[in-house]
This record gives sequence, C-alpha cells and structure tokens, in this order.
Amino acid sequence: MPVKLQLSFAKTAPKGDFTTICLIGKNGEIIPHLEKDVAAYLIAAMATAQFTGKSGKSLVIYADQNSYLLIGTGDKLAAGIEAENLGGKLFSALNGTASKRGWLPDHKLDDAVLADICFGANLASYHFDSYFTDKGKDDVSVQLAVGDDALNADSALIKDRQALANGVFLARDLVFEPANKLFPAEFALRCSALSALGLEVEILDEAAMEKLGMGALLGVGQGSRRDSFMVVMNWKGGGDEAPFALVGKGVTFDTGGISIKPAKGMEDMKWDMGGAAAVTGAMCAIAGRKLTKNVVGVIGLVENMPDGNAQRPGDVVTAMSGKTIEVINTDAEGRLVLADALHYTETRFKPEAMVNLATLTGAIIGSLGKEYGGLFANSNDLAKQLVAAGEATTEGLWQMPMGPAYDRMLKSHIADMKNIGGPCGGAITAACFLARFVEKTPWAHLDIAGKAWSDAATAIVPKGGTGYGVRLLNRLIDDWQGATILEQADEADG
Ligand code: BES
Ligand code: MN
Ligand code: ZN
Repeated sequence: MPVKLQLSFAKTAPKGDFTTICLIGKNGEIIPHLEKDVAAYLIAAMATAQFTGKSGKSLVIYADQNSYLLIGTGDKLAAGIEAENLGGKLFSALNGTASKRGWLPDHKLDDAVLADICFGANLASYHFDSYFTDKGKDDVSVQLAVGDDALNADSALIKDRQALANGVFLARDLVFEPANKLFPAEFALRCSALSALGLEVEILDEAAMEKLGMGALLGVGQGSRRDSFMVVMNWKGGGDEAPFALVGKGVTFDTGGISIKPAKGMEDMKWDMGGAAAVTGAMCAIAGRKLTKNVVGVIGLVENMPDGNAQRPGDVVTAMSGKTIEVINTDAEGRLVLADALHYTETRFKPEAMVNLATLTGAIIGSLGKEYGGLFANSNDLAKQLVAAGEATTEGLWQMPMGPAYDRMLKSHIADMKNIGGPCGGAITAACFLARFVEKTPWAHLDIAGKAWSDAATAIVPKGGTGYGVRLLNRLIDDWQGATILEQADEADG
C-alpha cells in the first residue's frame, strides 16, 4: 500500500491529532524547548523504554491528550546524508503512528539540515505503482508539518531539494518500467517532456545516426523491431563555457542478442538502461534547480534482441570514430553503444569533462559486490572528486585500475579491436574498450551494474530502482573544481 508524503509548514501546533516530534541528542537530551513537566514526563518514559537517542531509533509515547514521537539524532546531525537518513526514518516512524501526522516544532536547526530532513522523508515516500489496477485505491498519506522561523514551501532550499527529488524519482521510474512499456522511442519521448524545464532536447533517429556513421550503436539495435535513438539533453545555464558532459547506456532490454543470455534472471535486463536513467534524472534535477552552469546529457537508446537481422558473433562494425570492432560476443553491447555516444559527445561538445554511467558488466559485481559502483578514469582529479561526491551522497564509488596490460587483451586479428577481453578482469577490459573512444577529455566511466537495482530497501532508497547516480552527479557538478587528464605513460613494455 503506497504511502505518500504531505509536507507542510506550521509555526504553531496544527489542529488535530498531530504527534509532536522531538529530536533526541546522543545523551538523551531533548532538543526542542518543551514545558518543564512535559520534558520530565518524556525523560521518565525514555528511561522506562531504555531509549538512548541512538541515531534513527524512535519511540512513540501516547499520553493522555498528546502523543510524542522521539527520534534519535546520534552524535551530530549534519546536513546531507545524516539529515536525509533521519528524514527517511522519521517518515517510516510517522507511518507507524496512529494518526500518521506529525509536527516538528522549531528545533533551531540549520536551514540546510531541516531541508535535508524533509528531502529524506520525500525520498523515502517514493513508490512505483503504475501497473496495479487498483492503484490509488487505498493510498494513505503521512503528514509532516514543519515549524521553523525561516523555512516554508517557497524557500529556495526546499524548492532546490524538491527539484533534486524529482530527478531521483524520474530515474527510479525509468528503471522500474518494464521493457514492453519503456522501449527506446518511449524513453526518448519522456526525455522530450523535460523541455518544459528549459532543457533543449534533441532526438537523433536511425537515419541521423547512420549519417554520422554510428555503426557500433546501430549494430546493437539492428536485431530489434524497435528503432534505436540517441537523445541529447542540453542545459545552458552558464554562458559560453564548455559544458560538463554526462553520457548513459540505455539498453532498454538486453537479451544478449545472438549470444543469448540464460532465462534465469533475464527479467533483470529491463534495467540495463540504468545509466541512461541516471543521466536523464540528473539533467532533470539540474534544469529544475536552474544551475548556473552548462551541462549536456547524451544517452544511447537501443534494445538488444536476436531477430533475423541481428548482428552475429564475428561481425565487424565501424564506429563513428572510424575504428573497426570485431563483435565476438553480442552480449557485450553496452560498450558498443557507448563507443559512439562518447565519441559523438566529445567531438560535438568539446566538454571540460565527461562522465559515463552504465550497467556495463556482471564482472564489476564479482569485483565489488553491490556496495560500490566501479570507477575508471583517465584523470586523478576527476576520480577524486567522484569518490568524494560518492561519499557525501552514499552513492559510493571504488576506483579500479586500467592500463596497457589490460588494454592489450582487446586485440583482434581482423579489426582494430574486439569487443571482449579474456576470461578475467571483465569490468576492466570493458573500461579499456571505452577509453579507446575518448581522445583528450578528462573522463570517467562508472560501472553501476551492482547499483541500479537493489534487493532491499534502506531508509531513503526503495527495493528495486534506486535512482543511483542522480544525487552523485548533482553533487559532483555542484562541487566541481576542474580536472586535467593524466599524462599518457610511455609504454615501457611495448
Ligand atoms: N547488461 C550486462 C551487464 C549486467 C549484468 C548488468 C548483470 C547488470 C547485471 C552487459 O551487457 C553484459 O551482458 N555483459 C556481459 C559481458 C560479457 C559478454 C563480456 C557480462 O557481464 O557477462
Ligand atoms: Mn549484454
Ligand atoms: Zn547490457
């Protein structure tokens, strides 16, 4: 049963059965100023319940006339992920109260902390229910009324977080959608709708991509009845400066093609467009926030199917860059899509930096499990800033190696390269493949195969489509310091 969030602002206790929310510090101190006898009563109740104010733990107390929801803040309550998680837990705790309504009196918190609590509650309230026929029938809502001197529904901070949440929700929706509903043309249509936010949206169809010579991307889509597309979403908030570029893998379904995947778990491949979803969600957030910076998002949309026109193992295709690729395994298709998307983005937009996201390899899950996304980069500056943005948003990244010893595994006997390496190090050889399509731009590849979909919910992320990458990219671009590319090391061992 979906539970919605109704956020409102009220300086005094709203009428009706609103539970009073009290944040409790690490030593059990009650943060809002309460009447003496009420405070004494709550302190006694906390002692009886052995409630210590541990972070995120909550206790509901029903008294004669009033009720109280006590929630622990732990050591410190900083803006960002701590406040967001607290907001997520507050949402669940409120949902567990009798009235599902709570009032947070003025705690004299920093505006950013309070805005992030609201943001966390908002993220926690997400659910995907498009395909239930009784959708909306027994929806309930949790009401959170916030009392604060400064913040209200029109505050810049609240609007800013709402725009970011909209981006996260869009990415989650796209990931949840099944592949018979969300195919390349439909995905492109949903991108078009973002022009309402002031984004310039451009859609390249197969004829346009043919003209540009995107043989790598088109080869992947040729076994599907559905047309392939490339979508460019351009946010021009920053004048003449070179844009920051985001590039996404959008395989709306990956059967593997002629190198077909086993049946078990194949349904997961509906979310093989998680990279494109993250880019689209980030562009939605950036436009919604009216960022004063130029950012361009480019996604390659294809369906990898095995029909009579499908490409065969052993086929040779020519990418837009002019390089030839021997397609040994049609299931290593994401890199073929990105080869053209990266080259197109770099040559057309000459970005100051370029980050691509892709559910690229099962091998990255073998390497890192599902805790971190894999990070590969040709720039230490960019890698460092990505790791920092990952820590700040708990959309974590772990840097992986690249280099000539791995790159050599892509050698083909009849073309410039083949599309798979050897039996080991599959996430790394995939990254080396992508690197061959980037010339001189600080670039990073995020392999998010383990992150786009989750098996269990957390305080602010649902089970299923996570929206991973939206908060990360948003943070990266907010904190951006510039980057330079690594000097190409001389290949000592030839
Ligand atoms: N979309 C898959 C990678 C994937 C696997 C994403 C599991 C999410 C969960 C990708 O296109 C793929 O099939 N990769 C192959 C590469 C192999 C053929 C070299 C893989 O990982 O097995
Ligand atoms: Mn594949
Ligand atoms: Zn794939």
